[in-house]
Amino acid sequence: MKYDFDTIIPRRGTNSYKWDTPEEEGVLPMWVADMDFRTAPAVIEALQRRVAHGIFGYTKVPQAYYDAVVRWFGNRHRWQVDPRWIVYTSGVVPALSAIIKALTVPGDRVIVQTPAYNCFYSSIRNDGCEMSANRLVYRDNRYTVDFDDLEAKAADPKAKLLLLCNPHNPVGRVWTPEELRRIGDICLRHGVFVVADEIHCELTYEGHDYTPFASLSERFLMNSATCVSPSKAFNLAGLQIADIVAADEQVRRRIDRAVNINEVCDVNPFGVAATIAAYDESGAWLDALRKYLWGNYEYLRRFFEERLPQYPVLPLEGTYLVWIDCRATGIGSDDTALRLQKEQKLMVNSGTLYGPGGEGFIRLNIACPRTLLADGLERTVRVLERRRD
Ligand SMILES: Cc1ncc(COP(=O)(O)O)c(C=O)c1O
Repeated sequence: MKYDFDTIIPRRGTNSYKWDTPEEEGVLPMWVADMDFRTAPAVIEALQRRVAHGIFGYTKVPQAYYDAVVRWFGNRHRWQVDPRWIVYTSGVVPALSAIIKALTVPGDRVIVQTPAYNCFYSSIRNDGCEMSANRLVYRDNRYTVDFDDLEAKAADPKAKLLLLCNPHNPVGRVWTPEELRRIGDICLRHGVFVVADEIHCELTYEGHDYTPFASLSERFLMNSATCVSPSKAFNLAGLQIADIVAADEQVRRRIDRAVNINEVCDVNPFGVAATIAAYDESGAWLDALRKYLWGNYEYLRRFFEERLPQYPVLPLEGTYLVWIDCRATGIGSDDTALRLQKEQKLMVNSGTLYGPGGEGFIRLNIACPRTLLADGLERTVRVLERRRD
C-alpha cells in the first residue's frame, strides 16, 4: 500500500488527551475519538510550509478555503454548497452549542436519538434546554429509528430542534436516504429544525454511502444546519476548525451572531491550511485509510466471533468507533470498562456515557495500527471471557 497505517507512532509525551490522560505507563487507550495514524502527506506538507513562515498572527479565512469545502462536498458527496452558506468556527461542538443558542430559548426541548455522542447532552444543558430522547431501537443486532416515537417527540410544542448524528456515533449507522427522508418529513410537519452533525461523514464503508441530509430536498436544506469538519477523517481535531452550512439567511444570521457571542468565531492558521490540503489533495489517502479501517473492523469482528461469541459486535457502516453489546458480562458497562482499565490497562468508553440505551455496551476506537488493535483485543478477552463473578 502506498500509505503506511501499520507503523506504531508513539504518542505518549505529546500532550495527547487520549494517550497522556492515563498516568500509568503501559495503558492502551481505545477511547477518545482520534486516530493513531499520521494525517495525509499533503496536509503535513502544507502545515510544514505554514510553520516555516514563522509568523502566526490572527487569521483571515481565504476564498481558497471556501472553494475547497465547496469542491469537496460537490465532487465527493454530490452536494452543491453555496459558499455564502458557510460559517466557519472552532469545532463541531462549539458549532452545535452556538446553533442551539441561536435557535432556542431556555426551557425548549432538543430531540436526540439515543444512545448519542455525549457532548450533545452538555451542549443542550449549557444552553438551558432540555433533552428529549428518541431512543433508537436495538433489534436483531441492528439499530433503527423509532419513527412513531420521533413523531410524538416532535409534536411536543416545546421541541424546537433535532440533533441528528449522521453517521451515528456511537452505534455506527449511516442513515439511508429513506430514513433521512422520514426523519426530515416528521421534522417539517412539526416545525422542528434539524441540526445535522455530519463530522463522521467521510468514514463510511462499502454499501453504506453517506447522504448529506440537506442534499435530499430544498425543504430539508432550508430546515437544517449541517456541521462538518475534516477533523475526524484526517485526524486534525487538535487544529480546531469546522463549518456550519446553513442555507436559510435568517437562520444563518442568528447562528453567526451566536458564534460571535460565544467567541468561537476565530480559527487558527493551521486549521485553515490543513483543511485546504485535506479537501484539495488528500482524497486518495482517505480512501486508503477507509480500507485499512475496514480491515481493522473485520479483524475485530472475526476475533469476537471466534473468541468472544457471547458478545455481539454491531455492524460498522460508518465511523471508526465500534459498539459492542457486553450485557453477557452481567456487571454493567461501567464496571466492564473499569475492569478493562484496572486489570488490563485498556481504556474504552462505557456505554453509559452516551445516555439512554447505552447501558450494557462499550465503545472501542479501532483507528490504530492493527498490531495495537490485536493487543487491545487480547486484553479484552482476558477480562470478558471470564464468567460473571
Ligand atoms: C458526533 C460528533 N460530533 C462532534 C465531535 C467533536 O467535534 P469537535 O472536536 O470538532 O468539537 C465528535 C467527536 O468525537 C463526534 O463524534
